[in-house]
Amino acid sequence: MSELLPVEVRGLVKRYGELAAVDDVDLTVEPGDIYGLLGPNGAGKTTTLRMLLGLIRRDGGTVKLFGRDPVEGVGALEDVAGFVESPAFYPYLTGRENLRLLGALDGGADLRAIDAALERVDLLDRAGDRVGTYSLGMRQRLGIASSLMRSPKLLVLDEPANGLDPAGIRDLRTLVAALPEQGVTVLYSSHLLAEVEEVCKRVAIVNDGKIAFEGRLDELRASYGSAYRIEAADPTGALELAHRVGAPQARLEGHVLWLDAPSDLVDQLSIELGRAGIAIRQLAREQRSLEDLFFRLTEDAA
Ligand SMILES: Nc1ncnc2c1ncn2[C@@H]1O[C@H](COP(=O)(O)OP(=O)(O)O)[C@@H](O)[C@H]1O
Ligand SMILES: [Mg+2]
Repeated sequence: MSELLPVEVRGLVKRYGELAAVDDVDLTVEPGDIYGLLGPNGAGKTTTLRMLLGLIRRDGGTVKLFGRDPVEGVGALEDVAGFVESPAFYPYLTGRENLRLLGALDGGADLRAIDAALERVDLLDRAGDRVGTYSLGMRQRLGIASSLMRSPKLLVLDEPANGLDPAGIRDLRTLVAALPEQGVTVLYSSHLLAEVEEVCKRVAIVNDGKIAFEGRLDELRASYGSAYRIEAADPTGALELAHRVGAPQARLEGHVLWLDAPSDLVDQLSIELGRAGIAIRQLAREQRSLEDLFFRLTEDAA
């Protein structure tokens, strides 16, 4: 029997008045993934995750977490933990006391489970200090500990690196990278591709509530990761020709023509340019940074 998918979302919709904050979103997260939900601020990441966690009502589509709809039936969320935006704690209680309180609300967690969770996020030595004295990074880690305490099979993290310094981000990345081998699948949202590209194999890129790309990062890199840069004596003429030979995505940036196209099409274009009497001054293939690619994908979708 095939394993149940941790997340299977189809056609998810959330409207706020005229605004479709989440507009026909599909997500497929496989067991053992660290799956990146990427998009700029306002893209609809938190709203999507809220619907996944059953915190708000959806206006359309289906959500299945391990085959079960989070809003239907008792226990549908028992293998799932996480929080959106920032975790909330009592500042005047210690980290350990906060977890004990949350554990009690959740039907009881023994001290050993609490300390094991604190250990996993490297907070054991500060567990007796008040949360009010914690840094933002420590609070995020305490949030993760409170989720791990429930022994989830799916952990949902909404921009957990926000506000962290580079060292905090590195600690978080180490912590998250170790989760799949402990049997935890992770859904991780971020507005920075660089933050997740080392830990995520698969991503969805969202913008204005819509998916601009879903799939493997290496496929994304392979299919959009490089572009031809052409400097021609007549840039506008070269652009027209590029469109004519079948490269509709060709565009001019200043006097440089950028082309996302297979090499045979570029060959054809160079021949046509020669035929049209348009001299090529430079033609090179350039690797794009993923950040640039991310920016383009979200810009193009907008
Ligand atoms: N409760 C709400 N009422 C009205 N609009 C909202 C509400 N929550 C979110 N939005 C809007 O939905 C869009 C997506 O928001 P959000 O999911 O928070 O984006 P992200 O988490 O990607 O930054 C934004 O335009 C936001 O202003
Ligand atoms: Mg958000």
